[in-house]
Amino acid sequence: MAILKVSRLGHPVLRKPAEAVPRESIASPTIQRLIDDMIETMREYDGVGIAAPQVHVSKQIAVIEVQDNRRYPGENSIPLTVLINPKILAASKQPLEDWEGCLSVEELRGRVPRAESVELEAYTRKGEKIRLHAHRFFARVIQHECDHLAGKVFLDRMPDLKTLAHLKEFVRYWQD
Ligand code: NI
Repeated sequence: MAILKVSRLGHPVLRKPAEAVPRESIASPTIQRLIDDMIETMREYDGVGIAAPQVHVSKQIAVIEVQDNRRYPGENSIPLTVLINPKILAASKQPLEDWEGCLSVEELRGRVPRAESVELEAYTRKGEKIRLHAHRFFARVIQHECDHLAGKVFLDRMPDLKTLAHLKEFVRYWQD
């Protein structure tokens, strides 16, 4: 396994819609290795999720995990989840606003409205098709990562950039 270099805002790969992964290539060593490396990279940088374009690979793969995360204290745990070619099938209407950050938008937090719950279809790393029903923070992370696969970042979803804060100032003035 290897820790990969994270692409930062301004790199074109973050703005390009990622390519779907053909089901028959999910089992390939290249894709399996990429998934392992994405997991290791997410853990190394205390991310709660990472999408392949964030490691300079324009493919529709995202990994998500929350386990006593230092960057998001107090959030519920989410078991390690690998999503390939995820599709949001349905989303609740009423948006919920909360803080988000991103490994590609270092040291910034901002308030982003997201659907409270989503229904999702994706392949697992074993190539099995799954349907997921996610709520609250899990739903938020899924929407954030699916945005990455569509070439979007959370800043694009902020209705008001005035809430944008550097991490230190966020902790000092807004976290509680
Ligand atoms: Ni992100």
